[in-house]
Amino acid sequence: SWTTGSIVEEQIAAIREQVGDKRAICGLSGGVDSAVAAALVQKAIGSQLTCVYVDHGLMRKGETEQVEKDFVAATGVQLKVVDAQERFLDALKGVSDPEEKRKIIGREFIRVFEQAQAEIITEAPDETPVEFLVQGTLYPDIVESGGGTGTANIKSHHNVGGLPEDLEFQLVEPLRQLFKDEVRMVGQELGLPDEIVQRQPFPGPGLGIRIVGEVTKDRLDLLREADAIAREELTAAGLDREIWQCPVVLLADVRSVGVQGDGRTYGHPIVLRPVSSEDAMTADWTRMPYEVLARISTRITNEVKDVNRVVLDCTSKPPGTIEWE
Ligand code: XMP
Repeated sequence: SWTTGSIVEEQIAAIREQVGDKRAICGLSGGVDSAVAAALVQKAIGSQLTCVYVDHGLMRKGETEQVEKDFVAATGVQLKVVDAQERFLDALKGVSDPEEKRKIIGREFIRVFEQAQAEIITEAPDETPVEFLVQGTLYPDIVESGGGTGTANIKSHHNVGGLPEDLEFQLVEPLRQLFKDEVRMVGQELGLPDEIVQRQPFPGPGLGIRIVGEVTKDRLDLLREADAIAREELTAAGLDREIWQCPVVLLADVRSVGVQGDGRTYGHPIVLRPVSSEDAMTADWTRMPYEVLARISTRITNEVKDVNRVVLDCTSKPPGTIEWE
């Protein structure tokens, strides 16, 4: 549209003015905000930008490929992918406490990112310094961090793509006047694929906080399968817009008795947590059609090994939070 087009033009001019002939880096999380910010800066300064994607192994099925292939194809951005899966698994070994998990993931993320950043600086083909860091900060982020929302006291939110405060960089924040729906329109205008632009919120610590219990490779693989099935069926049923997000949670420390095929099983439950919300501050559980719940339940119990029960979380926020950890 005219408005979106003019926002894009204005921001491109502003970014060029700010960055000049210096270089910039940007952390990509797979989320909408960092993707649109990066695409905008790429459009403005091209190869002066390098993006970093830390693959912590806690992403959902297909998400890393979405960044590595689709995003790069749509933008032509220079991307450095760091495979840090082993490192995150090692750091999370034996840890079940939600806050401890969050802190570990946040800490490891920053370390890996800083290392990648140092490499980008030293690998530079010329002497052009990296002086700028691109962030997908939105208008509500600024308002909320000033006003204090209360959520920060409940969980230590970790924003992959969000970084430590003591950086010696100047920030480029091309989305800081925009709301989420406007960011989506800008993303569309820039030609980003729908899978990225229309993406539902997903927490920085990823599947790490959707496994109740210790995070292991096997459990992550299992949860990835269950989550992929739920997402596929929700999309097929046309519910992506109606549902704000639908965390799929593995109760890894819980087992229940079941009967599958010709024998007794003793497997784990999967929780479906579909919520409707305006801003994630409060939420209601989505009264989604029974047929869709039935399809998801049948498929997950048939297709995912070690899962013999699917349960629905029918709790609003408050008293429940959206994520289980
Ligand atoms: P809760 O669970 O607090 O979640 O009701 C509110 C919204 O925030 C998302 N969430 C996070 N997002 N880093 C993020 O970037 C985090 O650490 C994090 N924890 C929760 C959650 O998915 C929901 O949209």
